[in-house]
Amino acid sequence: MNSRPLLLAKIMTKQELLQTARETLEANWRAPGFSVPSGRLYPFQWNWDSGFTSIGNAHINPQRALREMETLFTGQWANGMVPHIIFHSEKETTYFPNFDFWDTTVNAGAPQRPKTSGITQPAVHGFVLEHLLNTFPDDAATIATVKALFPRVVNSHRFLYIYRDPEREGLMFMYHPWETGRDNSPLWDASMDRIVIDKGTLPAYTRQDTKIAAADERPTADQYDRYVHQLELGKRNGYDGPGIFAESEILIQDTLMNALLIKSNASLIRIGQRFGFDVGELEEWQQQSTRAFQQKLWHEELQTFVPYDVRAGAQIAEREIGSFTALSAGIASDKQAKILNDYLQSLHDRGFYLCPSFDPDSPHFDSRRYWRGPIWPHMNWLIHDGLKNYGFGKMAEVVRNDAIHLIREFGFYEYFDCQKNTAPDLTQGYGGDQFSWTAACLIDLIET
Ligand code: GLC
Repeated sequence: MNSRPLLLAKIMTKQELLQTARETLEANWRAPGFSVPSGRLYPFQWNWDSGFTSIGNAHINPQRALREMETLFTGQWANGMVPHIIFHSEKETTYFPNFDFWDTTVNAGAPQRPKTSGITQPAVHGFVLEHLLNTFPDDAATIATVKALFPRVVNSHRFLYIYRDPEREGLMFMYHPWETGRDNSPLWDASMDRIVIDKGTLPAYTRQDTKIAAADERPTADQYDRYVHQLELGKRNGYDGPGIFAESEILIQDTLMNALLIKSNASLIRIGQRFGFDVGELEEWQQQSTRAFQQKLWHEELQTFVPYDVRAGAQIAEREIGSFTALSAGIASDKQAKILNDYLQSLHDRGFYLCPSFDPDSPHFDSRRYWRGPIWPHMNWLIHDGLKNYGFGKMAEVVRNDAIHLIREFGFYEYFDCQKNTAPDLTQGYGGDQFSWTAACLIDLIET
């Protein structure tokens, strides 16, 4: 049955959309001062989600935007790492892997409280702080928080340059797909397949995500075993030991993780210059990273940026959304930026919503499953920012409008189908609902 008439009745005005976004952020706010990504599916604080949520909250509740960043950094480790999850509540049992499974006591520098996971996520905090500062350039509370967090954010970058770049190339590696924020992207398939699972040594576990979201929108059971295998590898090595680099089958210099690190470096340099902090170390990292990104991650044949598989000693030859974050970080040359813009234009002309998280022409593409094709609003926020900075206003508007349209039509979901021709049969988005960064990015995309 075609549900279109029903949908039309629900279509919201801009004011109603903004109101629902505000209510979503309000409903997801928790003590001691952070937003859950989505109350049922993700009941704790997630690292890069918090960054994007702050950007949206800055428009409606600036105090919360600052507080969210401060709360996140209460979970920072002595080695500088900002974990990917902060478990502010130890009573919540509806999530796997919970804090006890991570068992961060294996590292003496992990905080006793709050409990955390043992891996990290993309380094968004530098550019988030700059965004807050640009929104309120003369506000005393904003300036005080930014100054207090500045050395901590620099230290989180130092962690990546020391522990995740042992050969001092300027590119950090990840060893767990959850670190990239793009958990089950086909990018990681080949290295995931190299892992040999010994069921006898893998600890018993029960997934919780498939009880809440549809199984065909989530990673498969085999993938999940491998996620747990990588978690155990980290744990055995205290989550920062050299054994990770020596042993892991997954060892990848990701586009998005390195691009956002570079974007945040640039923000920190500007913030540091404004407040008189020493930025020499940041400038050295920045020069080396930008050069290495260009030299190692541009794929000549595909004409796109791709991650580098360190273990295989080769680029991962796939078209994927991480490439476009090089625009937001200002890494792409004008020529490369035009190529990326033209590619998005061609997807748009072919009737796709922008921006699919994976190449629609690849056999690995799956329009429903998580990071294998669907659209993620915070990625549209990043790509909109990048296209605008390179002067591609027309495509930036398409990226912005597609995100707003999908949310308006299908709700405040985690991710959305990118195929316009399947849209008439859909009544909602995919994954978790009442999603914080969906609401936050919508607010910023509408308000700026
Ligand atoms: C999923 C996403 C990740 C996000 C988390 C919480 O794991 O892949 O990017 O941080 O959910 O929303």
